[in-house]
Amino acid sequence: MAGEDGREGLDDEGLNEGTERLAEGDGAAPAVALHLVHSDRLEEGLASLTEEERRWAEANRFRGRFGSHLAIPGAGGEIASVLVGMGDAKVRERGRFHLGDFAKSAPAGTYEIAGEIDPETAEEAALGWLLGRYRFDRFKSEPALDDAHLKAPPGVDGTRIAQIAQGVFITRDMVNTPANEMGPAGIEEAARRIAEHHGARVTAITGEALLEQNFPMIHAVGRAGPEAPRLVELTWGEEDAPAVTLVGKGVAFDTGGLDLKPAASMALMKKDMGGAATALGLAHMIMARRLPVRLRVLIPAVENSVSSNSMRPGDVLRSRAGLTVEINNTDAEGRLVLADALTYACEEAQPDLLIDFATLTGAARVALGAEVMPYYTDDEGLAAELAEAGRKVADPVWRMPLWPGYEADIEPAVADLDNAPSGGMAGSITAALFLKRFVNAPSWAHFDIYAWTPKARPGRPVGGECQAARAVLEVLEKRYGETPDDA
Ligand code: BES
Ligand code: ZN
Ligand code: ZN
Repeated sequence: MAGEDGREGLDDEGLNEGTERLAEGDGAAPAVALHLVHSDRLEEGLASLTEEERRWAEANRFRGRFGSHLAIPGAGGEIASVLVGMGDAKVRERGRFHLGDFAKSAPAGTYEIAGEIDPETAEEAALGWLLGRYRFDRFKSEPALDDAHLKAPPGVDGTRIAQIAQGVFITRDMVNTPANEMGPAGIEEAARRIAEHHGARVTAITGEALLEQNFPMIHAVGRAGPEAPRLVELTWGEEDAPAVTLVGKGVAFDTGGLDLKPAASMALMKKDMGGAATALGLAHMIMARRLPVRLRVLIPAVENSVSSNSMRPGDVLRSRAGLTVEINNTDAEGRLVLADALTYACEEAQPDLLIDFATLTGAARVALGAEVMPYYTDDEGLAAELAEAGRKVADPVWRMPLWPGYEADIEPAVADLDNAPSGGMAGSITAALFLKRFVNAPSWAHFDIYAWTPKARPGRPVGGECQAARAVLEVLEKRYGETPDDA
């Protein structure tokens, strides 16, 4: 949920505690019991009801169908409990966070899940509740949701779940905010507010300083935009902790440049800073969890615009790394700004782990659609950890190959590299191979994300989405554990 005055879910106090927290302790009013009823285990689901309640369920033809719910009145006409349909095994296989569906229309009140529930399901239910209650209501005059809260189920760390949801909301808010309010300067401001909340440091190299300090490709892509291009850098954590660096594509709007996108392809391009928003959402989760890592977030923030000083097709750019790049398509701008940022990320002290997020190619969507995020890495251990983590936390990711056979496709006649190989075969792979040329770190993963939900699903309203960040957080928490509270 967007803050009153803030575009990224932060207010003066820090994160605004609206939809992104679970109810605490035993409030004065008794909580409404939520019975999660599976249509393929109907008897079991209704077993704890009284005879009257069962008859009420029967009279209303409640069958546990996914998307259905039924309130059961108490003697005084209040809502005593609610039956929430969770569907059958087949429906559940198609997606998780089913409680998110009820959460988005829950009447005001405090709820608690009734009956026995295993910790993993309980955690998923609690996160689903929070994710389902997200609204981007910054531009609405009336708040869209009733004031409903779920109590953290027993055995679930409610604070942790809320911190994860806050990170997701930061990403969603940033992506949903249109480019007229979230340009390169807005991205920097968002980073600064998150940093301030956690006591992190932020610096930015802006405009001509990008040339002076040798970030020629970030400058070349962004110089035609209405706001100066910049490289934003956030740092946090102890000097001697393992170094984790996140890089996020921050193209505030992607017109395609002189190779202008057609209207239909341009319509959603406010979300081309989804990599930056994801890196910052994940950074919030890492800092809120106080993971013992040395965190660095690098965001090249630019707008890919049309102007007399736009880069042109056929231009040859010299990158920070010294490699020359022939611009065969001004719309393949993401890899250019990322290249300089990745080079910078690996200079001096290499990070122990380097991860980038970018809405880099349409080809990734052709391959895997809007739900499954492709990732690329040569680190077999990391690849396995990410796959396992994504499954566990319902943040679907899928490994793709850095196929050496396609290396020749990014090598043109004129320069060292080509930013847009002709033919367009394996477009997501050749983009990843392009990035790889600029990486010099022991362990690197690249996510070609979408950052958007085109069709609503439980816990995932239409609009900006935080993808792959929870999977990465799970890997980091497994590897590094948590900082004890008294540390
Ligand atoms: N931002 C786009 C990629 C994109 C398009 C992401 C649609 C999500 C949805 C990127 O800058 C781009 O335009 N890539 C081109 C590269 C091509 C010209 C080599 C693409 O994918 O078509
Ligand atoms: Zn583009
Ligand atoms: Zn782009």
